Amino acid sequence: MTIDHPSFGRIDNDRVIIFDTTLRDGEQSPGFSMNLAEKLRMAEALAELGVDVIEAGFPVASKGDFDSVHQIASHIRAPVICALARSGGRNDIASAGEAIRPAARGRIHNFISTSPLHMKYKLRMEPETVLELITAGNQAARQFTDDVEWSAEDGSRTDPDFLCRCVEAAIKAGATTINIPDTVGYATPEDMARIFADLLARVPGADTVIFSAHNHNDLGLGVANTIASLSAGARQIECTINGIGERAGNAALEEIVMALRTRQDVLPYSTGIKTQNLLRTSRMLATITGFDVQPNKAIVGRNAFAHESGIHQDGVLKNAATYEIMTPESVGWTRSSLVLGKHSGRAAFRDKLKAMGYGEMDEAHLNDAFARFKDLADRKKVVYDEDLVALVDDEARDHARIRFVSLDIEAGSRRPARADLALEVDGEARSATVTGQGPVDAAFNAVREIFPHEATLQLYSVGAVTEGSDAQARTTVRLEEDGKLVDGQGADSDTLVSAVRAYVHALNKLLVKRTRAEPEAMTA
Ligand code: KIV
Ligand code: ZN
Repeated sequence: MTIDHPSFGRIDNDRVIIFDTTLRDGEQSPGFSMNLAEKLRMAEALAELGVDVIEAGFPVASKGDFDSVHQIASHIRAPVICALARSGGRNDIASAGEAIRPAARGRIHNFISTSPLHMKYKLRMEPETVLELITAGNQAARQFTDDVEWSAEDGSRTDPDFLCRCVEAAIKAGATTINIPDTVGYATPEDMARIFADLLARVPGADTVIFSAHNHNDLGLGVANTIASLSAGARQIECTINGIGERAGNAALEEIVMALRTRQDVLPYSTGIKTQNLLRTSRMLATITGFDVQPNKAIVGRNAFAHESGIHQDGVLKNAATYEIMTPESVGWTRSSLVLGKHSGRAAFRDKLKAMGYGEMDEAHLNDAFARFKDLADRKKVVYDEDLVALVDDEARDHARIRFVSLDIEAGSRRPARADLALEVDGEARSATVTGQGPVDAAFNAVREIFPHEATLQLYSVGAVTEGSDAQARTTVRLEEDGKLVDGQGADSDTLVSAVRAYVHALNKLLVKRTRAEPEAMTA
């Protein structure tokens, strides 16, 4: 079977469309909000990774969401740019249509709940009204684009006969992709396979659209449910980098893609993903959001290819296939390597960053990053790839309002610690000299003195980027304000500078968060 799709043309039956919702379903989860510049950077990385569709946001939710979808639609050309809308929401479809207008290829994704529980308690609507809104939403979306997706929110807990009626109505009203989410992560792989097989067999017109799977991970079954959906006929998968998303998250893109690639014998599907970019994209997201993946996370966790036991190490040395089902290089891992020395010039530095997949940096970021590299090379014997990644990612963070300038610390066991800190706030230089219970306390007090705020420190953790006592420190700082949590990260060969950078990063994220409106009745 081949399908003629408005955005992709004729699609072979073994081609799986990768729909990335990191910037929508992922970004709406607690602690993961990103500002416009961060979203644009992620969107660029997703395009380089080769995703087919980027769900860029929910434009009606706030001006910030609208602007980011619009900007991504204006700048990112290769993937389809998708905007979310409620099927029955006032202004949702018009706002989504307006936001994707600049896109080379744009999609509107409208959704409404179809399960008895959601219809009765959340929507307070009769099933017939929901059917009417499905038709109206898809018809309205088709006024803006031929590429329209419709989702049955809480689809996996929907009565099968009613789900067939909803899907039929959506197709008749012009939807070209039909998504059946397991919104609450309740389904098993067998459930998902049965739902797709049923819809494909029973709904008139099912053979003219793409079916899509969207699995949440509340029972840890997100990836398994996605694979089962593919085996039953779905050909689009909705997923996020690092599996971020509401509650326990969404199915992780990197895990699904590598399962398909590694198990071609039983999963004979293809994607457009450049798998060597997976690690880099994962790290970029972790850096931007301040949430590292756990060490044992499949594909991108730092232990994913580490062999600790002697028996395993011995096996891998004799033949890597003994304990490795895919090569580390295939997902972007490289061995730590000596990169540049303190005599390296700016051109070599730029070439090295390019070779590491950083693309073209703007001049200002390049200059700042190069100055920090020179400083690091003066202080650290060996500069590894990991050091460069930490440094460049740190530099690329958008310190929208507050920027770190300098820090001097006096500390010891015989007197209180004293921090002399300089920051730039909204372009204006400010400084403070403050004491504290120790050097970290003094440094954080100085930030509070320069930029007074009510947020409280919830977590302060320090790790090393590489090995050795001259390794750069990588710090995470978590702040809390009115129940909102943000994590910031910083890296520097001076642990205290790294801590202040992380604090400032978290503070900037909090300022962004304060300006965002909560989307009304937004779930999933
Ligand atoms: O999980 C869900 O149901 C969603 C929909 C909005 C697609 O995210
Ligand atoms: Zn979702």
